[in-house]
Amino acid sequence: MPNDTNKLWGGRFAAGPAAIMRRINASIDFDKRLYAEDIAGSKAHCAMLVAQGIVSPEDGTAIAQGLDRIKDEIDSGAFVFSEANEDIHLNIEARLAELIGPAAGRLHTARSRNDQVALDFRLWVRDAIDRCGDGLRELHAALIDQAEANADTVMPGFTHLQIAQPVTFGHHLLAYVEMLGRDRGRFADCRRRLNESPLGSAALAGTAFPIDRHMTAAALGFDRPTANSLDAVSDRDFAIEFLAAASLTGVHLSRLAEEIVVWASDPFSFIRLSDAFTTGSSIMPQKRNPDAAELVRAKTGRLNGSLLALLTVMKGLPLAYQKDMQEDKLPVFEAADALQLCLAAATGMVRDMQPNRDRMREVAARGFSTATDLADWLVRELNVPFRRAHHITGEIVRRAETKGCMLADLPLADLQAVEPAITEGIFAVLDADSSAASRTSFGGTAPSRVREAVAAARQRFLA
Ligand code: ARG
Repeated sequence: MPNDTNKLWGGRFAAGPAAIMRRINASIDFDKRLYAEDIAGSKAHCAMLVAQGIVSPEDGTAIAQGLDRIKDEIDSGAFVFSEANEDIHLNIEARLAELIGPAAGRLHTARSRNDQVALDFRLWVRDAIDRCGDGLRELHAALIDQAEANADTVMPGFTHLQIAQPVTFGHHLLAYVEMLGRDRGRFADCRRRLNESPLGSAALAGTAFPIDRHMTAAALGFDRPTANSLDAVSDRDFAIEFLAAASLTGVHLSRLAEEIVVWASDPFSFIRLSDAFTTGSSIMPQKRNPDAAELVRAKTGRLNGSLLALLTVMKGLPLAYQKDMQEDKLPVFEAADALQLCLAAATGMVRDMQPNRDRMREVAARGFSTATDLADWLVRELNVPFRRAHHITGEIVRRAETKGCMLADLPLADLQAVEPAITEGIFAVLDADSSAASRTSFGGTAPSRVREAVAAARQRFLA
């Protein structure tokens, strides 16, 4: 019978969907991380309500004291979170009511969870930006110190991962210093735009109570209140910008990590990683695996994934608040955690790594890496046009290849067989050290330039 069937289903729905609804609706499992921000926001709001004569000083004091106590309870782990209370905002409000009674109900005057969560999340992301900024600074310092110590450590520079021209290890590390400098700039930009207070936008339209949004904005360290209440409760640009900056930083870290993996590999042996950042193999006793670098490289996936997740959540949402936006937090928490860990690991690896200078120099001289220097010498000393010099050099390289020797080891007679005007003086430019030392153009790899660049980087990034 259709009716019986309905009853059957109806009975099931009464229990089932209610429980499922609670699970899908609740965010307390993850948004409990916003508790300190939520309490700070509530205290600022409460103080403003008292100052504006909207709440009595007695109730205001009771609310503030109750909130302090809740903060202590959560800090110490004594607080019992409940899924029935959905999210961090309702969990704290419910506990406040238990602690101070009906006065708790006055805290939510002229406020909605919509501006409350927008505020909490902004405060959290602002702190995350600062923490990532600190981590970036540490890594910056480690790279700059290593660059200084290796201003004249000659290594092969690569293009296509083929030996191209000798460079200095210090110069190579300073390339990452530039990337991270741009990353820090992006986080700073994001922070500047983020730093407006949504509190007092209420549900979406503002409020009829005579609130002072400038007061709460100042109390919470914001530059000003947001200008449009609809935008304020529905904007998550600050989180997306944070994730975008984190993703690009992750991309940079993954490139550094990849190089560390390559450099530490046995065939390269350019650097030795410390025991602290390597692991052994359970079967091959000789192995020193660069796991930390590999994981830094891999966590880029999480960062990029988080960015895409939030962009996708926000795409096509009408104004103003939609529950979809509750899904904004996990990607941001995950990305912030991952990035901080990656920055710390990268800093440790960079500080600890020991370059093998002899090995780097030896490889720098391979692959006819000074062929460009040879061609440049022909242009400079013999006034040969560069294209012709390139051709002559090609022939010389072929001879060296046939003899199985490096350019610097070719007898003068062989060089003169290709170009009779070549003199002994050419040998001064054919070794890797001279090659690197000669590249003194601004931003170039010469040790003298690297030392200048290190000093400039200290000023730009660490002062
Ligand atoms: N837990 C919610 C979130 O994170 C808080 C805001 C709820 N607002 C609402 N109108 N239901 O988005």
